[in-house]
Amino acid sequence: MRVVSGIQPTGNLHLGNYLGAIRNWVRMQDELAEGQQALFFLADLHAISMPHDPAELKRGTLEMAAALVACGIDPDRSILFNQAQVPAHAELQWLLGGTARMGWLNRMTQWKDKSGKNREGQSVALFTYPVLQAADVLLYQATHVPVGEDQKQHLELARDIAQKFNNDFASEDAPVFTLPEPIVPPEAARIMSLRDGSAKMSKSDASDMARINLVDDADLVMQKVKKARTDPEPLPSEAAGLDGRPEALNLVTIYGALTGKPVDAVLAEFGGEGFGKFKPALGEVLVETLRPISARFTALLADREALDAILARGAARAREIGRPTLDATYAALGLVRG
Ligand code: TYM
Repeated sequence: MRVVSGIQPTGNLHLGNYLGAIRNWVRMQDELAEGQQALFFLADLHAISMPHDPAELKRGTLEMAAALVACGIDPDRSILFNQAQVPAHAELQWLLGGTARMGWLNRMTQWKDKSGKNREGQSVALFTYPVLQAADVLLYQATHVPVGEDQKQHLELARDIAQKFNNDFASEDAPVFTLPEPIVPPEAARIMSLRDGSAKMSKSDASDMARINLVDDADLVMQKVKKARTDPEPLPSEAAGLDGRPEALNLVTIYGALTGKPVDAVLAEFGGEGFGKFKPALGEVLVETLRPISARFTALLADREALDAILARGAARAREIGRPTLDATYAALGLVRG
């Protein structure tokens, strides 16, 4: 078992990232057996696919590293690094570029959503983004990739690339790449915006009120929950009663994911109650979850050198683990390297 996953170091770590992915990273890290490894990285190379401010990216990379450690990623047990310090990611992306098909990339919903009606004006990197993502996991022979639902399609593409490469350039008994399995938490696959139950909670939402950031203080969290969009009906007693009520479903889902209770159990407790009662309860659970994380985050950020050292150490280990696969890829393609 080898666990690999990444996060873009742009904007704040939010509740969707935490419940959809990071919490699972920590769980999987904690369950690793002797000799198994988990690699978690900041996808800074992915972040340049959209217009960005270099100073902000630099700051965001360190902040995201601190946020991950604050959430429970232990740099002594997991390998924590940023892509830019491991050139093999970019190299392998190029080598896989001969295998990935234009048609596959054209079908990616993230590409369609982000490019909208202006495909011609997008960066080449935004289009080839999923090939880099495939390189990220294939480089390390990842078996398990904990992600939110929105990344599942990219992981399926990584499997397609791996399979085609193995078919085209390797013998059946000695494949170059392992096919990675996406691990999506059923209870929090897709956390939605607090302002619009049909849009996912996202770093790029123009309104900060649409998301809970892991560094928001207690007052702000309570205010965001209080202002979260809902409907006038009381909560139902069973999950079926949430059909057609995406905002209510989202809040109940968040409460359940934070307390470890299934949606039905949450509704057994709050069914028949209005949001006037439910929202303060949700706010409190959120505040209690975030309090220790933001305290650790603030402390970690104060020691920039320690964060630099964590990333440098992680990158050195990642370069070592990735080397045999990169070498095998060059060799399989018939590329002469002296
Ligand atoms: P990113 O940075 O957008 O998000 C990081 C992780 O958080 C999950 N996530 C969510 N889960 C549930 N509800 C939400 N509202 C929500 N928003 C985000 C994402 O699914 C993700 O797991 N392309 C990736 C980063 C990446 C990567 C990789 C991931 C680069 N290479 C290789 C896995 C493997 C991204 O932009 O995630």
